[in-house]
Amino acid sequence: MTRQTLILRNASIIDGMGNNPAEGDISIAGDRIESIGTVAGNAEEEIDLDGLSIAPGFIDVHTHDDFAAILHPDMAFKAMGGVTSCVVGNCGMGAAPYPQALVLARAFHPGQNLPEWVGYRGYLDYIDNQNPSINIAALAGHGTIRMAVLGNDSREPTSSEMKQMKILLQEGLDAGVLGLSSGLIYDPGRHAGTDELIELASIMMGTTALYTTHMRNEGTRLLESVGEAIQIGKAAGVGVQISHHKASGRESWGLVKESLKLIEEAQDSGLDVHADQYPYTAGSTILSATIQQGGLDDEGGGLGQVDAEGIVIASTENHHEWEGQSIAELSIRFGKSPQETAEEILRNEPGATVVLHSMLEEDVQKVMAHPSTMIGSDGIPTLQGKPHPRLYGSFARVLGHYCRDLGLFDLPTAIYKMTGLSAKKFGLIDRGELREGAFADLVVFDGAAILDKGTFADPNHYPEGIHHLFVNGIKVMNNGVLTGARPGHSLRRQ
Ligand code: ZN
Ligand code: CU
Repeated sequence: MTRQTLILRNASIIDGMGNNPAEGDISIAGDRIESIGTVAGNAEEEIDLDGLSIAPGFIDVHTHDDFAAILHPDMAFKAMGGVTSCVVGNCGMGAAPYPQALVLARAFHPGQNLPEWVGYRGYLDYIDNQNPSINIAALAGHGTIRMAVLGNDSREPTSSEMKQMKILLQEGLDAGVLGLSSGLIYDPGRHAGTDELIELASIMMGTTALYTTHMRNEGTRLLESVGEAIQIGKAAGVGVQISHHKASGRESWGLVKESLKLIEEAQDSGLDVHADQYPYTAGSTILSATIQQGGLDDEGGGLGQVDAEGIVIASTENHHEWEGQSIAELSIRFGKSPQETAEEILRNEPGATVVLHSMLEEDVQKVMAHPSTMIGSDGIPTLQGKPHPRLYGSFARVLGHYCRDLGLFDLPTAIYKMTGLSAKKFGLIDRGELREGAFADLVVFDGAAILDKGTFADPNHYPEGIHHLFVNGIKVMNNGVLTGARPGHSLRRQ
């Protein structure tokens, strides 16, 4: 028996599988949980948790932290919010091939020197050499792969181009990525037809790798888009994850009732389909995609129609005075129409990111309460300007605001949606669950105090009520302060 390195005593233990909390102790040996219950003996370190809650560390299944995990290895914006593992490479934007990954990530990291690697294997090895504070799992990005083969061409791939794309995806799968993500409102993913996605995803058939998708349309054509995602999963024989499930734009509000039904029906027919969601009525993306998708037009495109008041500049490289200002406010300042104002901003700041106030609170709650939904922040790690507060607060907000204050679901269910369900869906073995032998990724928090603190006007704040964080058995946060330890590594599909 390995010697117990740490004992956490007198905790309210929430196991991540939806079961009722149990009072007791947890002992850790090395990077694993050794025992749960009444733990005898002693260890190198003991902490009396005095009734605080302990749960599996949160798994953020939807992130864009591919480069952030290397540029900011303390990952404070995640660790301080209770997250112990991130899935990067969402929305079609993967970490390889490198030159294309760089193009897609530039907007998130203006002016920063980004490191270089070869392939997904190179990326995951880089993570293991660099050691961030938390664990990193990756998806291969369809957009990145397509750009490497077809540039930004709006056409079908030839059969030799298709072969090339399959080789790039297979490299990722062999290296241990968890699946393939698509971003069908963005360049170049939006040029891909359903058949292309089916054919590419088919190489994952019979494996645990899954297909995740930022769908073609989250506005008035939401239901068609969910239908396309389900069609791809069925035809390719792979599990499906619908990214940031929502109905975006006033004309589409209420549609989630139907889209949830489509998910239920597909599940009943045997498809492994789920969704993730961030707990806010605003989204966030790059301004260029918002305008290209017709966000300001009457029709609205893939993002739905959003008022000029509802599009707020989040980050820029050099025009920080625009951050926090809406297109409506800036159009007064510029003396131009909203459309011209957006174009003017893009000429100066091609990578500008925006917050989009586009959803109905009732829809957000309906999606969150649904059993198919898990939590993913979709945070954009610019770490400057006024990023969407989901970057820091998504998990604390679900636990504090939606679970405790609104009573949308009980605490074990809330934790399940950010741990056990997430690990199962993405194939993260021995994580997302408190049991003997599982990895010791743990978060200790005060259920009465936990709450997100960032707002849209003032987003750069860590949540309150989170006391300790352990990653692979090592303490990353102690009494609300990061220790500087970086025990994270890559999580690869087995
Ligand atoms: Zn997305
Ligand atoms: Cu995303």
